Amino acid sequence: MSNKTFYITTPIYYVNDVPHIGHAYTTVAADVLARYKRLKGYDVFFLTGTDEHGQKVEKAAKDRGKTPKEHADLMVDNFKNLWKTLNITNNAFIRTTDDEHKKVVREILQKLRDKGEIEKRSYQGLYCTPCERFWTDKDVVNGNCPDCKRPVEHIEEENYFFLMSKYQDRLVKYIEENQGYILPEMRKNEVLGFLKNRTLGDLCISRPKARLAWGIPLPFDENYTTYVWFDALLNYYSATKYLAPSDIEWWPPDHHFIGKDILTTHAVYWSTMLMALDMDLPKNIFAHGWWTVDGQKMSKSLGNVVDPNEIIEKYGVDAFRYFLLREVPFGLDGDFSINALKGRINGELANELGNLLSRTIALIVKNKKEGFPKRDDTKYISVPDTPTFFSEGLSEWSNTFLKSFDFFMGKLQFYHAIGHVVGAIKGWNKYVQETAPWAEKDHDKISNTLYTLAEGLRIIAVYLYPFMPSTAEKIWQQLGIEKDISKIDFDEEVKWGKDISGLKVKKGEILFPKVEAL
Ligand code: MSP
Repeated sequence: MSNKTFYITTPIYYVNDVPHIGHAYTTVAADVLARYKRLKGYDVFFLTGTDEHGQKVEKAAKDRGKTPKEHADLMVDNFKNLWKTLNITNNAFIRTTDDEHKKVVREILQKLRDKGEIEKRSYQGLYCTPCERFWTDKDVVNGNCPDCKRPVEHIEEENYFFLMSKYQDRLVKYIEENQGYILPEMRKNEVLGFLKNRTLGDLCISRPKARLAWGIPLPFDENYTTYVWFDALLNYYSATKYLAPSDIEWWPPDHHFIGKDILTTHAVYWSTMLMALDMDLPKNIFAHGWWTVDGQKMSKSLGNVVDPNEIIEKYGVDAFRYFLLREVPFGLDGDFSINALKGRINGELANELGNLLSRTIALIVKNKKEGFPKRDDTKYISVPDTPTFFSEGLSEWSNTFLKSFDFFMGKLQFYHAIGHVVGAIKGWNKYVQETAPWAEKDHDKISNTLYTLAEGLRIIAVYLYPFMPSTAEKIWQQLGIEKDISKIDFDEEVKWGKDISGLKVKKGEILFPKVEAL
């Protein structure tokens, strides 16, 4: 085991609904980073799972005539199956109904209670049942919830409160002093704006069992269950206690990837909970944007919810994974449309990448039926054959390319990382055009060009691997490389100048068949 560790999480998804493009987005993004880090030599713990308690799930189960657990058991497979289809390499899948998780939640509740961080108070407030939260008079708009716009109820009852308010100043200071804690920058500013312009209240963390039975009972008062967010956020910690390899200290997580709508719960509730527990905060919370569909909000009532399974079936897993991270810079909102997806497939994937591979393989097959000749550095890495778009020479090119790629990945700029690779693919296509090996008579020159192309593609496949793992594998297979690309040393494999003599290329299927434009 190496001593470099990397712990990344996605939100745990509610089982009241089937997975859609929003769920797929966070999970694919986390998978890209997890795959990249593994090849960079890290021990990775990549966690995803489902959030199974609370009123939403209780209601969804009731509507289907099931108990909440029966319902959750059925729904959870929709997520697990989709992650399989999407080639997600999560190391663990947590369910908040796991006994071990419930045990940790109860221990933590007891600990906070013992430390005087949880207090019982009589309380009255305006409650939104669908959103499972209290609002103040100021928040409510004409008697309706400011979030879901449904009527709120006036409720008076005794409840338990986590004394969150006392951490307000400490949290502001923490966020200001730890620049990378909340990203992107605009989200950090939003949280700071929120914290600086209001007095933070305490957080009601219980629900009377009579109102919400489907939750974890408080260890110090069984008449109450715990607030679904309190239970859910703790998954990030509980999983390290029973789902992660125990010989490694996984805390604190490197990244929590979430959507922008659940930023407050993470940046404020979760951070202060950890402060109260004297635990380290995660190194980063990254809130990505939301997808609209054909310019409209995605919603069941509009009937425009994108089912990833349908897209994958029609256009393939890798095209979908690619699209999600290529279409919009991570952090900004984006729009999904079949047209835009087709544009990416026909353009960058079919015309550029697919074409580069098929013409390279065809040329090699035509000229080098016996495989590659033994590599001769003096011949194959000579300056005249340096592609014209790389002024520094190819070894130099591969070093600088790696630096830029690592920079983008380190900043979670997946869009730019892919853009960088696409730039190289376009460059290699130009190189084929310029060297025109089909018109060349000099055999040495042809060999040299073909080596350069094959070597370029071998390296490009490594860069594409985190985003499109099966495509990367197919490229290596067609080049005749037998190594398992998911187990390589990234930095080693992107170096220019491997000896690929003797490799027998195999003409394979077209990587991305063109799709009919709308
Ligand atoms: N269960 C909570 C999370 C608890 S984490 C401790 C939850 N679940 S959810 O299933 O409703 O949503 C999960 C994620 O899906 C959120 O990160 C949310 O931002 C994301 N998305 C939901 N709709 C989305 C889009 N239209 N676009 C992008 N992401 C979206 O919240």
